[in-house]
Amino acid sequence: MAYILGIESSCDDTSAAVLRDTLLLSNVMASQEVHGKYGGVVPELASRAHQQHIVPVVSQALEIAGIRPSDIDAIAFTQGPGLLGSLLVGTSFAKGLSLAAGAPLIRVNHLVGHILSHFIDVRSSSGEGAQPASGKKPDFPFLCLLVSGGHTQIIKVDAPLSFSILGQTIDDAVGEAFDKGAKLLGLEYPGGPHIDRLSQQGDPGMYSFARPHIKDLDFSFSGVKTSFLYFLRDKQSEDPGFIDKNKAHLAAGLQHTLIDILVDKVVKAVRQTGINRVALAGGVSANSGLRERMMRESKKRHWDVFLPPLSFTTDNAAMIAIVGYYKYLDGRYAGLDIAPVTRSSLMTGE
Ligand code: KG4
Ligand code: ZN
Repeated sequence: MAYILGIESSCDDTSAAVLRDTLLLSNVMASQEVHGKYGGVVPELASRAHQQHIVPVVSQALEIAGIRPSDIDAIAFTQGPGLLGSLLVGTSFAKGLSLAAGAPLIRVNHLVGHILSHFIDVRSSSGEGAQPASGKKPDFPFLCLLVSGGHTQIIKVDAPLSFSILGQTIDDAVGEAFDKGAKLLGLEYPGGPHIDRLSQQGDPGMYSFARPHIKDLDFSFSGVKTSFLYFLRDKQSEDPGFIDKNKAHLAAGLQHTLIDILVDKVVKAVRQTGINRVALAGGVSANSGLRERMMRESKKRHWDVFLPPLSFTTDNAAMIAIVGYYKYLDGRYAGLDIAPVTRSSLMTGE
């Protein structure tokens, strides 16, 4: 039995979690509200807020788990990708604690964290025993649609720490497309959840936007954003109140277009690989339209679809700790000279 402490600080959430093997004992999060009014994450402000949050967040995670620093068997921290200043706070703290607690360090690729969030167990509702947080865990190999603010990839997962990227975006990530579209509608950052909420009151068929023709399993989202921008500009010049009057329909149309682009490539990936187990991961996997659509496709096409619980879709330390657990089993430790990496591909950064 091992206690793994996970620390996540790649962007604007400071989080710490404790796992006992795969069972989640605590997952504490301090989000930063400050960025909303700037329309995006301000790196300087983010790293300063991480510095304020990291000590209380880690202390609370240990306290809720009921363990002391000396009980920790390994400290898993996000090495990257992410913002340098933010990553440095988590990395430096992890190193200090590693020395103080006498626990080895494990570096974790944030993207692998999103993928392996499906392997976290939580206490069952009766309080006795454990159950998979996602309801069930995917068997290997499976396909993962990783959709976040920085990445859009289809990944073949052969084992907990063995992957290959089958396709990825050649420009913007889908989360960026949600956020940029939301900004054009005058919504706060991050706009994805606002688009999701507004879409539920809109007609997705009223407006639709250009779908790209990209080869193989790659994605492109910059064209959708441009088509959305020009459409709004034309309509606003005819009627300055156009956006306000049609906000929900515009959100629903944009969301529908983005989901179509994603699902189209998943269909192709299943066909090409013959693997019909499909997991969603990353911030955009919280989107209710995408989740519903994947469930519909799973019935129609006989896929086995795995949706992460909402609390594990956006950045959190539980997903960093679960990767830490698998690397702990292999003894894959990092030295104290380890440095953060702002950009890491899934293959090399793992
Ligand atoms: O995984 P994540 O928390 O951070 C990154 O690693 O990037 O993803 C953040 C992204 C943002 O672009 C945010 O707008 C999007 O996830 N997002 C959503 C929803 N919730 C978060 N997009 C669409 N619908 C949502 N419900
Ligand atoms: Zn993320």
